[in-house]
Amino acid sequence: MTELEEWDRLAKVVYAESLERADAVNLLNMAYTELAQNYDKDQSALKAVANESLVEHSLDLISNDELSLMLDIAAGTGNTALVFKNAGYKGICDAIDINATMLEMAKQKRIYRNAICEAVTGTDPLPVQVNCYDFVTVGGAFIENHLPQACVPHIINVLKIGGLLIFNSRSTEKNAKYREILLEILVGQVEQGRIALVRSVEAPYVNRECRETGKPMTALVSVYKRLE
Ligand SMILES: C[S@@+](CC[C@H](N)C(=O)[O-])C[C@H]1O[C@@H](n2cnc3c(N)ncnc32)[C@H](O)[C@@H]1O
Repeated sequence: MTELEEWDRLAKVVYAESLERADAVNLLNMAYTELAQNYDKDQSALKAVANESLVEHSLDLISNDELSLMLDIAAGTGNTALVFKNAGYKGICDAIDINATMLEMAKQKRIYRNAICEAVTGTDPLPVQVNCYDFVTVGGAFIENHLPQACVPHIINVLKIGGLLIFNSRSTEKNAKYREILLEILVGQVEQGRIALVRSVEAPYVNRECRETGKPMTALVSVYKRLE
């Protein structure tokens, strides 16, 4: 099986609509376990620039000193934190991911203080301290069958007041329904006065033609600030 066929298999799981949540989570976990070893190589082959875009559009906004605390949600093999570090982030990074094999690859990069292997759900608090992080990143995981949109209020709870939620969300037809619900939840939190939108930019995600559109894939990079 070629790299791209492997990724097709993952795409089928990501966008499977008829699966129960629990089945989707299990299938996705199995797919990531298989992909983990070659994940970084495959991302280069796919010309993924998602994390570079995320960092480019948020580095100027974060608190950046040795005491700064970042939580990398759905950290995978650690590339979101790694790109922040390579761009000059000086602080401490913690990670959460559901997949133990992906997280093992991340640990080898030696950038995380704590790497927690747990699922982020729409119902439970995150397995970290509340009111604690200067910023939280979600790279590549606000998509179907990954993070449930209802986890957003739980993510906000772990930010310090003034802390930032930084994420990307693919601008594809297949992701449209998921993103609409995600944005509705974010707007709800804005209306409740819990967060404010700081930045929202359309930016490159994968620099090769996407089969859906024939054009390189882009994503919305968004930054929200916790107000209370
Ligand atoms: C596309 S990868 C992104 C990894 C990394 N953030 C990056 O940009 O390179 C998505 C990751 O989300 C994780 N994931 C999916 N659903 C999750 C959940 N409910 N809770 C925690 N992690 C999850 C997967 O295990 C996988 O490692």
